Amino acid sequence: MHPRLIFWISAAVRIATILALAALGGYAWGAKTGLLLAVAGLVGLILIQLRYLFSLSQWLEEPQSTRLPDGWGAWTDVFARLYRLRRGDEKNQAELAEWLARFRQAMTLLPDGVVIMDDVMFLEWCNPIAERHLGLDLRRDKGMRVTNLVRTPEFIDYIILQKYETPLTLSFRERKLIVHVIPFENRRQILVTHDVTELESIDRMRRDFIANASHELRTPLTVINGFLEIASMQPDLEVAIRSSHVTLMLEQGVRMQGLIEDMLTLSRLESTEFQVRKETVDMPVLLRQVVQDALVLSGGRHTIQLLGQGPSLIGSTDEIRSAVSNLVNNAVRYTPDGGRIEVLWEMRDDGAYLRVKDDGIGIGNEHITRLTERFYRVDKSRSRETQGTGLGLAIVKHVLLRHDAQLHIQSTLGQGSEFSVYFPLVSVINLDTK
Ligand SMILES: Nc1ncnc2c1ncn2[C@@H]1O[C@H](COP(=O)(O)OP(=O)(O)OP(=O)(O)O)[C@@H](O)[C@H]1O
Ligand SMILES: [Mg+2]
Repeated sequence: MHPRLIFWISAAVRIATILALAALGGYAWGAKTGLLLAVAGLVGLILIQLRYLFSLSQWLEEPQSTRLPDGWGAWTDVFARLYRLRRGDEKNQAELAEWLARFRQAMTLLPDGVVIMDDVMFLEWCNPIAERHLGLDLRRDKGMRVTNLVRTPEFIDYIILQKYETPLTLSFRERKLIVHVIPFENRRQILVTHDVTELESIDRMRRDFIANASHELRTPLTVINGFLEIASMQPDLEVAIRSSHVTLMLEQGVRMQGLIEDMLTLSRLESTEFQVRKETVDMPVLLRQVVQDALVLSGGRHTIQLLGQGPSLIGSTDEIRSAVSNLVNNAVRYTPDGGRIEVLWEMRDDGAYLRVKDDGIGIGNEHITRLTERFYRVDKSRSRETQGTGLGLAIVKHVLLRHDAQLHIQSTLGQGSEFSVYFPLVSVINLDTK
């Protein structure tokens, strides 16, 4: 049966019951009493309706803290339906809150900054990355105009002129940001910030590298071209002069070749695809060879000593040899005649330890952190004299990085330098030599 029909029928039944009872009373005790009973019954009915109406109005005022009564008659159904509605509402709200929390978390994990603003640029919401990029504080700045918070002329121009088709590259708080505004929903706009500081610095490093490499290659090439020009213009040059020119050209050619080889080594060491070899590196033998070569380079001008009895390592022999020989050759090249060079190789508790120590010219403190940069040389003119290109320590750094080893440099200007390398225990093979 239709609910509306049930409602009216049950209401009619209730009224009819009261009237029937009153009529029965009237029949028993007289018409007056019957009338009185009818009035009392109807008033009672109205009072019950009023009571439930009152409960309902109270509940509507504070639906969370008050409870609906079970009700009577038609109220039972009304209250049950209201209760169901409210439960549904609560469920929707909980779902919405959960969805919002998930959305916020996703926004927090985003690597880019997101700012939501209204049509006149008032801050409505932003994620923590945007706070960091733009120096905002959502709690403090909410409701403020973004152009008042990020006060950079380029940014303000971008917003005022609404040049939103292309993103803006913004230098802000020592960082490089790509900023893009995307209007949405008519009355809102999203601002996305992307940090490109690292990319920029890689790009700058690449540009510097190319500039440095070209510069280094140009010098020997200029020398070679100069001599070739002389040779072509003066074909009947004295044999002695000509042969001295050839010697100098050869020297420059060798230098260029060395430079290119070093650059290729560096690029190979830097590529992640090129895995480090895991072979046995007989360090005692390797060090003896390196010291032997250094003695040849020194030509008897220095005392070179090999001390200690360290272990063999696991790694790439070629790479470790190139790193160690650079350290030892540097010691020879930057130590005046009569100087002393000491190479120590020993086992320690936390790994194997290599130290190349000299009493040469030493290095000023301000240069030490930059020594491993490519092409970095303390004294360019002296280094050129010694044929240095400044790539040696960059190669050392990469080789050690690939072998999980650490480099420490200690030096005092005019007194000498100490290059220490720590190889971790996992790279050490025969611990019995300890
Ligand atoms: N033992 C040392 N004593 C003093 N200065 C040093 C020593 N080792 C390195 N240096 C300084 O550090 C700079 C960088 O060294 P690195 O080995 O990278 O380049 P290089 O020796 O000039 O050239 P390369 O090794 O490529 O032939 C050198 O130019 C030199 O100024
Ligand atoms: Mg060197």
